[in-house]
Amino acid sequence: MKRVGVMKAGSVAFGVLFLAGLAVVGAQQKPQAHGNMLQMMRGIVYPASNVVFVAQDDPATVKPADDPSTSPNPLASSYGQWLAVENAGVALAESANLLTIPRACSNGRQAPVTNADWQKFVQGLRDAGMTVLKAAQTKNVDRITEAADAVASACGNCHDVYREKTPQQGGVKARCTAS
Ligand code: HEC
Repeated sequence: MKRVGVMKAGSVAFGVLFLAGLAVVGAQQKPQAHGNMLQMMRGIVYPASNVVFVAQDDPATVKPADDPSTSPNPLASSYGQWLAVENAGVALAESANLLTIPRACSNGRQAPVTNADWQKFVQGLRDAGMTVLKAAQTKNVDRITEAADAVASACGNCHDVYREKTPQQGGVKARCTAS
């Protein structure tokens, strides 16, 4: 079977978007949650943060993939090396927005997106993402190491309160609660 590549998928996507666009002219799209908090973390936040953490080993030394245009590794892709780190910073800052959309956690509880401390942790992730972007633009490994540290703190600050739950605290069932 012939695999659909980026170009083919792109033209199909354009057609679909064009038709969809006609259908919703004038309608304001609202942000919608499509995954629970766990899926969003695993699918979007975690892969972007790994690009930043690996960048401490100097992204300029990453060998481009044999076919960079289809590489699933951002650092070895067409938009690789330092550019991939810039993009990961943007992805993390943008994912702060996703953390403000009401959605369920994996245990069925609603994520506490209106809590003051949650919002502070979201802002921490936003700031850390922008710190990554600026550091990557300088292509300076020391600066990206500092930025990676800021990212790790931003993740940890929220996880300490809302993710890490001992069996005594109720384990996974107590995630997304502050107690
Ligand atoms: C504002 C809060 C918040 C921030 C910031 C945050 N997380 Fe999370 N994260 C959570 C919560 C809550 C869960 C548990 C979600 C669930 O079980 O539904 C979670 C779960 C995860 C998981 C899944 C763990 C598992 O059980 O498989 C990963 C991976 C993860 N986070 C990575 C990150 C990384 C990396 C960062 C920073 C770049 C980050 N998170 C920032 C709140 C946050």
